[in-house]
Amino acid sequence: MKKPRITVLGSLNMDLVTVTEKMPLQGETIIGQAFSTFPGGKGANQAVAAARLGAEVYMLGKVGNDLFGIKLKEILTEENVNVDFVDVATNTETGTASIIISDDDNRIIVVPGANKEVTPEWVTSHEEQIRKSDILLLQLEIPLESVKVAAQIAKKHKIPVILNPAPYQILPTVLLKDVTYLTPNEHEFKQLLEEATKEEFDIIRAKSIITRGGEGVEFFLNTEKILVNAQKVDVVDTTGAGDTFNGAFAVELGKKRDIKEAVLFASIAGSLSVTKLGAQSGMPSLNAVKEIYELQKC
Ligand code: RIB
Repeated sequence: MKKPRITVLGSLNMDLVTVTEKMPLQGETIIGQAFSTFPGGKGANQAVAAARLGAEVYMLGKVGNDLFGIKLKEILTEENVNVDFVDVATNTETGTASIIISDDDNRIIVVPGANKEVTPEWVTSHEEQIRKSDILLLQLEIPLESVKVAAQIAKKHKIPVILNPAPYQILPTVLLKDVTYLTPNEHEFKQLLEEATKEEFDIIRAKSIITRGGEGVEFFLNTEKILVNAQKVDVVDTTGAGDTFNGAFAVELGKKRDIKEAVLFASIAGSLSVTKLGAQSGMPSLNAVKEIYELQKC
């Protein structure tokens, strides 16, 4: 079978990860357990997840003219992600995410840096790459206008679009109409609905595949609510689990899989990804996901 061609437009960050037994309170200093830097950014994470699962992946985005930027491009290349369209923004730093891991959960502060330089004009200049894709995968760590333009271009060329609406922002109706699937987590789903008009509410409900962490993934097929249970795994770090889900979901849709099959496959990939520290470290191989998928699909 031909490899699906996935284009990911989005963020690249260096993740600065601190592991601690408890979160510091306001004004408190505590001693942590460990510190590491890991490649991250929702866009780059989704690209790596899709590449590990066998897709032909193109990353569109920007890094700064610094060591983090060089390292992030090197790592993507090692992961077989094409970085021909990852540009170096000269006057700003590479995006960073300061992440604190504690009690099986995380808190994250993102400083966008070069990700902010992904302008609508720059996206438009990559129309040809979007046109040649089987799937366009988007998130919200680059300017919203650029996400909007990318979805418009994809729609014009009949390319299915997955939008992971994270971190949460209010989405314009036109963007909701242009995307094929939304992949919010449960909090983002709730926030999206809270702000929605009746028309938007119906679109969000019909297009959303909702990730609920350890409780699995939920979506509506016509009027039927479907729940796909999560795998039981030992959780080390949940950072990047949603990104793994999105990358895997894109790969399966790119292979024209039925929605239920694609969600089950992506949900297994997302579950497996939390067993190692770092967003990309635990992302599974195609064989690892297939092994469980074959047992579960009957
Ligand atoms: O989804 C996880 C990602 O969010 C991290 O890698 C971090 O960079 C933030 O962007």
